[in-house]
Amino acid sequence: MLEQKTIEIIKSTVPVLEKHGETITTRFYQLMFGNHPELLNIFNHANQKQGRQQKALAGTVYAAAMYIDNLEAILPVVKQIAHKHRSLGIKPEHYPIVGKHLLLAIKDVLGDAATDEIIDAWGQAYNLIADAFISVEAEMYEEAATQDGGWDGFRNFVVDRKVVESDVITSFYLKPEDKKGIATFIPGQYISIKMEIGGEEFTHIRQYSLSDAPGRDYYRISVKREAGTENPDGMVSNYLHDDVKEGDLLKVSAPAGDFILDTEKNTPVVLLSGGVGLTPMMSMLKTLVEIQPSREVTFVHAAANSNVHALRYEVEELSKLETVKSFFFYDSPTEEDRMNNRFDVEGYITREWLEDKVSVDNADFYFCGPVPFMKAINRSLKDLGVKEDRIHFEFFGPMGNLEE
Ligand SMILES: Cc1cc2nc3c(=O)[nH]c(=O)nc-3n(C[C@H](O)[C@H](O)[C@H](O)COP(=O)(O)OP(=O)(O)OC[C@H]3O[C@@H](n4cnc5c(N)ncnc54)[C@H](O)[C@@H]3O)c2cc1C
Ligand code: HEM
Repeated sequence: MLEQKTIEIIKSTVPVLEKHGETITTRFYQLMFGNHPELLNIFNHANQKQGRQQKALAGTVYAAAMYIDNLEAILPVVKQIAHKHRSLGIKPEHYPIVGKHLLLAIKDVLGDAATDEIIDAWGQAYNLIADAFISVEAEMYEEAATQDGGWDGFRNFVVDRKVVESDVITSFYLKPEDKKGIATFIPGQYISIKMEIGGEEFTHIRQYSLSDAPGRDYYRISVKREAGTENPDGMVSNYLHDDVKEGDLLKVSAPAGDFILDTEKNTPVVLLSGGVGLTPMMSMLKTLVEIQPSREVTFVHAAANSNVHALRYEVEELSKLETVKSFFFYDSPTEEDRMNNRFDVEGYITREWLEDKVSVDNADFYFCGPVPFMKAINRSLKDLGVKEDRIHFEFFGPMGNLEE
């Protein structure tokens, strides 16, 4: 436990660090990657360039510091991040590297204002926060490796089938190279893929939600090609689409993530997705039909039009069950879409529509999609009085704030 004086120093300096938050963490990454370029094999370079990861890490360290005398209170957040760390392969030996460079960066940016006493207090605080992560992650590593069909780190999977689902989304069916069993997962969870790309100095790790139900002898992921307009094309998604062929090997870590379907409940479920955000919802929908066929499910998917609308036939098949209703929203339908009635509603999902069509009073809501989509859904649900414990969502990138 920290001394009271140390706790006071930390809490009183949090606002100063918050003010310089991004400057400090930008400097931190420069210093750390300068001394440890091997860490570029783990970190997402595009997130770095867009400053997204900077915000996530800075925000969490300061939030944690405010709770330094009661870290239990932020355990759910620690667990969420720990899932991602475990999936990426972050190990205890990485923590002192981050700690050392964070303190160096604080000293660098604050100059004389960062007295030895302040730096010492933050060193102690960081170690406590790091210990909390390390112990949660140790349990997760243990579970990932020892469960039935589980494994440690990255395991080779063969691309058994590659299926084009729309103009921009392709599914990959992955089977283990060793032909042994694979760990089960909870619908909503993701795997990480570590990609070695010819000509690239570093490996690139990305997460992909599992888009089929558990209990198969494969994992399915469905990947959207991220085409950059002004920016470079997405590295891994384009490589998967263009270069990875059936029979190729991919390195995969065991399923992770705390965005999970609660099948203990029997109340209605509403699954809302925008674009490729439908992947975890597909896993949830399939599972609900398989193991809770009497549960009321509403599947709502928003896409630009049928050209980019993936997995529609699977959803239509599953919607034959009386308890499952599905709705497709297109914001830019083609003439053909209109002629063939390929969508239910033109435009975006609105609060009024939700109020009219779904069980706002008792349903659990799961959603995923582009951040503006997620903000709009979150706002609508809050306006309709849905409490936080019935709102569940996943970011397909560093976690952010939907209330901003
Ligand atoms: C939990 C989770 C689940 C996910 N599930 C899925 C899924 O089921 N399906 C799926 O398709 N994706 C999913 N994702 C997203 C996926 O992990 C990747 O982020 C996505 O495939 C893009 O990776 P990439 O390597 O192609 O693009 P990156 O190279 O990482 O680039 C990302 C974006 O940044 C832009 N960019 C690149 N370089 C720069 C630069 N220098 N400056 C500015 N912008 C730049 C690119 O144009 C691109 O739009 C998930 C993510 C998470 C966190
Ligand atoms: C107490 C220390 C740490 C904190 C508070 C922290 C916090 C975070 C947060 C908030 C995220 C984003 C999670 C998400 O969006 O889901 C994240 C992701 C990540 N963390 Fe940590 N982290 C810590 C330590 C480390 C260490 C020691 C490493 C490895 C050297 C590391 C590597 C990563 C990587 C690679 C990601 C994925 C995002 C990306 O690649 O851009 N973290 N961390």
